[in-house]
This record gives sequence, structure tokens and C-alpha cells, in this order.
Amino acid sequence: FGPKLLQGMSLLLTAGPTREAIDPVRYISNHSSGKMGFALAKAAAEMGAEVTLVAGPVNLATPNGVTRINVESAQEMLDAVMPQVEKHQIFIGCAAVADYRIADVAESKIKKSAEQMQLALVRNPDILASVASHANRPFTVGFAAETNDVEQYARGKLTRKKLDMIAANDVSNSAIGFNSDSNALSVFWSDGSTDLPAVNKDTLAKQLLTLIANKIKN
Ligand code: C5P
Repeated sequence: FGPKLLQGMSLLLTAGPTREAIDPVRYISNHSSGKMGFALAKAAAEMGAEVTLVAGPVNLATPNGVTRINVESAQEMLDAVMPQVEKHQIFIGCAAVADYRIADVAESKIKKSAEQMQLALVRNPDILASVASHANRPFTVGFAAETNDVEQYARGKLTRKKLDMIAANDVSNSAIGFNSDSNALSVFWSDGSTDLPAVNKDTLAKQLLTLIANKIKN
């Protein structure tokens, strides 16, 4: 790898899960560890980029030289990302953003009573699509966790969300992805694709960033 391939560039990325409050003591979330996003932040800083990492609640140390903004909900993540968009040449949406939030968050702890209860949910904003539709958009990269028909779904998201590139991982394989230390990606852009076979997330991060840097420069 060219060690300073991202010198002079700045990268904004999201990582980790979001946490959607139900009441003051409960929430809905997911199993994202944030490891892939943090590996990307670390690798990008090592490759010379200025890095801003917008992170959901995760148990990971901030990589050296990375500016970290902590958020909880999808709305907070959107509010942290949007004012930063124009200052960055690259955006990578690595966070596992909750698709829905609670329609009416209870102000005090919900008491148990009936045998069944319903929670009404509403759609969260799509942070990645919001960045990609910005007038002065950075080179925008998304992630897609799929269990089947990986290429078809990933290409669908590339087009629908107006992305420059999408990195898909097959989450039906439990040896890679989510909480694992290694991962494999199939990367797609408008007129090409490549497979990055399973390796540790630090190496994979460097490979994906090299691909992004080369795409931007060509
Ligand atoms: O549509 P799907 O959730 O599979 O898309 C995944 C990609 O979109 C990831 O890059 C994720 O970070 C991003 N995303 C987002 N905001 C959402 C949902 C997904 O930024 N509300």
C-alpha cells in the first residue's frame, strides 16, 4: 500500500449501532460492534487522511489522530453528520442505523400491566442517502449487510441511494462480519466490482480505502 495515499484528504464516517429510546431506561438497538468502522477510521488516519468518526454507542477506543463525535440515536447521527458533509471529500456510512424509532418516547418508565402491548414505530431518516443527495457531496460509500442475492441487493442500494460505491458483506456467514475480527467484502460501483476475500478488518480497511483513493484519483 502507498502509506500516505490519503494525504491531504478528509474522511467522514459513521460506525456502530444506533440506540432508539423507548422510555428513559429502555431502547431498541442491534448487534453492530463498530469494529469495521473503527478499523476504517484507524486505517484512514494512518494513510494520511484527516478523519471525523461519528460513532454510536460502542466499546472501542478512539484510534490515534481521529476526531470522534459520540451519538446515540439515528436522528442524532444525522444531526452530527450533515453540518460536516461539505468539509469532507469522502463519506463512508458504516453504521448499522436502526431503520425505525419509537413514535412516542415515554417520558417516564413504562409500567407492566396487560399481557400484550404494542409499540408504534416510525421510519428513521436515511443518513447515507441524505449525504449522497447533498449538492456538494463527498465521494459517498455505503455498506450493505445481506444474507442472499448479495450483488442484486447491493447494486439496488448503489442506484437507489445514489452512491459512488457500495461494500457488501454476506452476513449469513457467521465467521465474518458483525462481531467478528475478520470480514470479506464484495465492492460494487457503477461500471465495475471487485471481491476482497476474508482477512482481518484492519487489512480489509486498508484495501477498501486504497480502492476508494484510486477511484477518486482516476
Ligand atoms: O438500506 P440499508 O440499511 O441496507 O443500507 C445500508 C447502508 O445505509 C449502510 O451504509 C448504512 O450505514 C446506511 N444507512 C444510513 N441510514 C439509515 C439506514 C442505513 O446511513 N437510516
